Amino acid sequence: MKLKVAITSDHGGYVLKEFLKDSFDLDWVDLGTDDAKTSVDYPDFGHALAETVADGDADYGIAICGTGIGISIACNRHENIRAALCMNTTMARLTREHNDANVLCLGERLIGTEAALDIVKTFLETEFEGGRHLRRIDKIED
Ligand code: RB5
Repeated sequence: MKLKVAITSDHGGYVLKEFLKDSFDLDWVDLGTDDAKTSVDYPDFGHALAETVADGDADYGIAICGTGIGISIACNRHENIRAALCMNTTMARLTREHNDANVLCLGERLIGTEAALDIVKTFLETEFEGGRHLRRIDKIED
């Protein structure tokens, strides 16, 4: 069965959002935005994505803005959301192995498309290691 992945962006991440949807054969849940020209507010999209993942309506989320920073801050305000801004595949692997991150954040203006492909692939294919890392992520919600 295909992974169900919620994806969202503001105008600064729209082009990368569409590129990723075209590149991976996944069960996508696209929460907008719908074009790169209309200026929108990244928290609106980050909150909607975080709620979708926290409610169990997607296995993972991918949230994109110009830098990835603003939308990651918005996502991380939600209980049971661990959103990780990743600039390379090492960050993507380690945030899955150690943090059990359930939202991947990307900055369209800071990374190229080839890097984004590798980061997404690594994030979605890497398993959480559990063990001592589970104790640590449990402490995040305390
Ligand atoms: C929008 O211009 C930009 O501020 C936004 O995409 C993001 O980079 C914020 O963190």
